[in-house]
Amino acid sequence: MDFQLTEEQLAVQAAARDFAQNELWAGVIERDEHQKFPAEQIKKMGELGFMGMMVSPEYGGGGMDTVSYVLAMEEISKVDASCSVIMSVNNSLVCWGLEQYGNEEQKRKYLPRLASGEIIGAFCLSEPEAGSDATMQRTTAEDKGDHYLLNGTKNWITNGSSASVYLVVAQTNPELKHRGINVLIVDKDTPGFVVGLKENKLGIRGSDTHSLMFTDVKVPKENRIGEDGFGFKFAMQVLAGGRIGIAAQALGIASGAFELSLKYSKERKAFGVEISKHQAIQFKLADMATTIDAARLLCLQAANDKDQHLDYAKSGAMAKLFASKTAMDTAVEAVQIHGGYGFVKEFHVERMMRDAKITQIYEGTSEIQKIVISRELLK
Ligand code: CAA
Ligand code: FAD
Repeated sequence: MDFQLTEEQLAVQAAARDFAQNELWAGVIERDEHQKFPAEQIKKMGELGFMGMMVSPEYGGGGMDTVSYVLAMEEISKVDASCSVIMSVNNSLVCWGLEQYGNEEQKRKYLPRLASGEIIGAFCLSEPEAGSDATMQRTTAEDKGDHYLLNGTKNWITNGSSASVYLVVAQTNPELKHRGINVLIVDKDTPGFVVGLKENKLGIRGSDTHSLMFTDVKVPKENRIGEDGFGFKFAMQVLAGGRIGIAAQALGIASGAFELSLKYSKERKAFGVEISKHQAIQFKLADMATTIDAARLLCLQAANDKDQHLDYAKSGAMAKLFASKTAMDTAVEAVQIHGGYGFVKEFHVERMMRDAKITQIYEGTSEIQKIVISRELLK
């Protein structure tokens, strides 16, 4: 693995950093407080190429590598983790899944608009009773010859109301268990498809999370991705890459909280000196910086594995497991370093602490990452 970033990767990182600082920072507290979806910001991210970074130029994307994607995710997440989850779902779950496994017609129909940010996508696997245990799909896609009849409920769907295209996982042949599952492309305006209420969340409040209801939704057969029964493999493959994106999101939350803490510790005085002169604060900063660097290396290793077409299920899970813990630990310490000011909204770190928690839950909880890692170790 080459530890030196290329000029192109450095340029992507700089562009993402500039965008985040100049365009996301100013309104982030208000968007969080009012659960305001960052529509304008996402549109600009699309124009700058951040919504379809790895999509090949043939389909209107940036044709970039996963390392560049990780670098951009870190920078955007340092400032606004709501924007970065919207970006992550669109890039690594929806666009990547469609480009890898969609047919030519599906790619031409959806990818250019998704990659430009003209529309965004959602990935719909979780259900009220099937989260970690994802094979237990209750949503059904009954085979009716030329179409599927989709019935059921999905839970916790990111971009739930703002998306135009939904990749919906559903069971067609229950007797085949997970091998009977399909994934269907569902357009938002399809009759029988209803978006449920928006969740009122602890963190990433700018992103919209909804349940989705499907009642006798007719989905043409040509909207199935891959062969009959490929849906669960599709979900697992897509999530293996998605976890690298969420790891980078967690890394960004941690490094954002660290940077604010470092600055604050050199400004705030207590007992006649800057608090950075107290060894207790210095040690906190040392621990934060060390774990953040380790998390970054794991993220880059997983991204590099993916770019080199090596197996990345284990390295991606390790990156997510470690980076999400780093995000949580770092954000908690960032609040501590800020003292009482850390507890109020204007200083940003309380939001980062709230945002950090979800990185240990979605795209597979930390416990599920340990299952993935240990199975890979033992196989
Ligand atoms: N690539 C390809 N196939 C894979 C795979 C991978 N990385 N991992 C597993 N599979 C296949 C297996 O080969 C197996 O297929 P065969 O039987 O045909 O060989 C099939 O999947 C089932 O595998 P398991 O027997 O290992 O299944 P399991 O029931 O024990 O569960 C699990 C495995 C890893 C726990 C899985 O259920 C899982 O990942 N759960 C977490 C779900 C999750 O991450 N949800 C995220 C939703 S999206 C989201 O959250 C987005 C967001 O927030 C922004
Ligand atoms: P459960 O599976 O019920 O788990 C509860 C607890 O039990 C967890 O601590 C878990 O780790 C533990 N546990 C479960 N099984 C085991 C086991 N075998 N061994 C050890 N511990 C175990 N899903 C989507 O499909 N698309 C999305 O866009 C999406 N976005 C989301 C956005 C937000 C804000 C949230 C909160 C969730 C989102 N999700 C999405 C769902 C998310 O992926 C699930 O919440 C997650 O996979 C966990 O599932 P669960 O909530 O059902 O928890």
